[in-house]
Amino acid sequence: MSSIHTCSDARRLAKQRLPWMVFDYIDGAAGDGFGERLNRERLRSLRLQPRVLNNVEKRSISVELFGDTAALPFGISPMGMCNLSSPHADKWLAKLAADKHIPVGVSTAASTSLENMIEMAEGYAWFQLYFSGNEDSSQALIKRAEDSGYKTLVMTVDVPEVGRRPRELRRGFKMPFKMGPAQIFDFAMHPRWSINTLLHGRPELANFGGKYGAFERTASRAGADWNLLDKIRQSWKGNLVVKGVLSSEDAVRMKTMGVDAVQVSSHGGRQLESAPPPIECLKRIRDAVGDDYPLFFDSGLRSGEDIVKAYAVGADFAFMARPLLFAMAAEGEQGLVQLCEVLAAESSIALAQLGLCSIDDIGSQVLHPS
Ligand SMILES: Cc1cc2nc3c(=O)[nH]c(=O)nc-3n(C[C@H](O)[C@H](O)[C@H](O)COP(=O)(O)O)c2cc1C
Repeated sequence: MSSIHTCSDARRLAKQRLPWMVFDYIDGAAGDGFGERLNRERLRSLRLQPRVLNNVEKRSISVELFGDTAALPFGISPMGMCNLSSPHADKWLAKLAADKHIPVGVSTAASTSLENMIEMAEGYAWFQLYFSGNEDSSQALIKRAEDSGYKTLVMTVDVPEVGRRPRELRRGFKMPFKMGPAQIFDFAMHPRWSINTLLHGRPELANFGGKYGAFERTASRAGADWNLLDKIRQSWKGNLVVKGVLSSEDAVRMKTMGVDAVQVSSHGGRQLESAPPPIECLKRIRDAVGDDYPLFFDSGLRSGEDIVKAYAVGADFAFMARPLLFAMAAEGEQGLVQLCEVLAAESSIALAQLGLCSIDDIGSQVLHPS
């Protein structure tokens, strides 16, 4: 029987099992983490208005997304080096995406190659691009994504420089690992993870190496600009999502440039500690871009009720990240499946409490004005 009944259960169990360095890499945020906590607090303090005596027997939590039907109201936000949480994490995420018809974001810094991921995900994968300081290498990645069948490209724009995450820095987190006495002690204290990782081989930046050259996770991407976005929009014929937007002006400009959707996100509070809570930016951006423009949201969603809140504030689709890695670190593939069942049940029960039958019915009317 699973011990995961909430996202915090998954986090607590993962904290016991993962080496401190890996836990702090996943859980960490910019600065002291105040910005990350503030967003979660703002999300939590939003109140939903219950409504009664509507027949809510037949409920659906599926969502239309780029012409497909996602069976869950959330997708998997792109994350680098997922296999650090568990050696088969990428495979399990891809399988979940295929089973539920939800997108799995495949990071430029993924621990499984973009070619393998789209195959395992049976097409339900979106490639996430980090501009790597060099236009040719970005175009080469885009070409690989196109050749392997990706239909959606997610350009992440909120990392001109990798944010300072002190919890990572204190642990000496580097890719590939630099092993010193502190790391050896850390791994020795977490033998289950260490043996499992040793048996399956150290996770690598799988989109690089050999003929694909090197990738430096912390390299500057400060050269990315509107001109680059415009070129990518002109050359990429599929859906283009821009991820990491917190300003209405930026979102409106992207809409005018023909970007298909904007993902409102603070990178889970990992970039600018003083950034405004993304859940509040979502409201302002929705007002600015109008009702019909696709907006996605991630950062700080930790329950089905949070997911419902994201839709109520203005999202057309939601994404989650850390809790999924924690569920796999805690209980493997079963943990991931269990957490998704928890989130699905929580979302569906929240709909029932609000007197609604589908995610589509959620609007600002469900937000209590308190
Ligand atoms: C371990 C980790 C690695 C991440 N790597 C990437 C990445 O490579 N590309 C990207 O666009 N976002 C990355 N993100 C950000 C997530 O996609 C997402 O925006 C963020 O974690 C917010 O969601 P959460 O609060 O549910 O974790 C990463 C997040 C985590 C926790």
